[in-house]
Amino acid sequence: MAKINLKLLKIEAKKEIKKTESLDYLNKIFDKYLGKKGIVSEVLRSLKSLPQTKRKKTGEAANDFKREIGELIEERKKIFQNAGYKIQDTHFDITAPGKKPVSGHLHPLTLARKEVEEIFENMGFSVVEGPEMESEWYNFDALNIPKDHPARDQWDTFYLENGLLLRTHTSPVQVRYMEKNNPPLRIITIGRVFRHEATDASHEVNFYQLDGLMVGKDVNVANFKAVIQEFFRRFFEKPVKIRLIPSFFPFVEPGFQVDMTCLNCEGKGCSVCSQTGWLEMMGAGMVHPNVFKNSGLNPKFWQGWAFGMGFDRLAMMKYKINDIRLFYSGDLRFLNQF
Ligand code: PHE
Repeated sequence: MAKINLKLLKIEAKKEIKKTESLDYLNKIFDKYLGKKGIVSEVLRSLKSLPQTKRKKTGEAANDFKREIGELIEERKKIFQNAGYKIQDTHFDITAPGKKPVSGHLHPLTLARKEVEEIFENMGFSVVEGPEMESEWYNFDALNIPKDHPARDQWDTFYLENGLLLRTHTSPVQVRYMEKNNPPLRIITIGRVFRHEATDASHEVNFYQLDGLMVGKDVNVANFKAVIQEFFRRFFEKPVKIRLIPSFFPFVEPGFQVDMTCLNCEGKGCSVCSQTGWLEMMGAGMVHPNVFKNSGLNPKFWQGWAFGMGFDRLAMMKYKINDIRLFYSGDLRFLNQF
């Protein structure tokens, strides 16, 4: 056996360990020096052929080498393991198809919101916002719902300790906007509203509404019909008709409920529309003179219409979702379908 200089060998082994970039290679270094067929085993095996004097010294040096290098290899191994290196990670197939990064996507309510905003913007409407924490004045009084009016019962909500309340509809935004902006004006607002309600498939304590307002010198119900019918046609990508039925809301006069031809049967009558051919979509009407006054506008000069509707319902109809609670459940099996 050729003479082996353990001192020099140790320096070399240390250098090699330092340079390793993978567990795989580290294992090779172990085999080379400390493995069964490695250099140190060879030295130990050759001890018996050495003269007595040399035997002890060489044996000690070999064991010393084994211990020190063994420890260094262990240490280095730990670094790789902690960093998540895997055994045999030195080779990779550059032709293998990569893993697609999973990118997020928008919530169905956000998707519907973007579409609605775009349609109205194309018809000359601005998109505006108002606070979710609202005063009694904007939520009720300014909209012609005085304190003891029974209509307040319809909009039961959560009253906060700071004297404000969680808005029950997005209609207060109409007043807030008219206070600061002179007609002619066209706006929509989409936002969260709150009701003190028991939840079921079509009711939540928290949901979204879409409110619209158009005011000018001669804005009338015919304009309203045209705008809303066109909005539904573009949103549902189907020809639809609407019809107005007299209804009451304190902040409009006259007021109406707006129905749309059933998308499922196209007006023929089916189970979705209870065989009527119509679906109830929103409340609307001509802005009440008192609302103009409360907003600082003279009802003698201005007239216009307003509407308000459940936004979740709109999205549910478009995407054929049958339970409003799915929007807020955070269930990925549902969300990942969009
Ligand atoms: N704000 C009413 C509601 O929440 C809807 C509505 C808006 C009705 C505007 C008429 C005009 O039910």
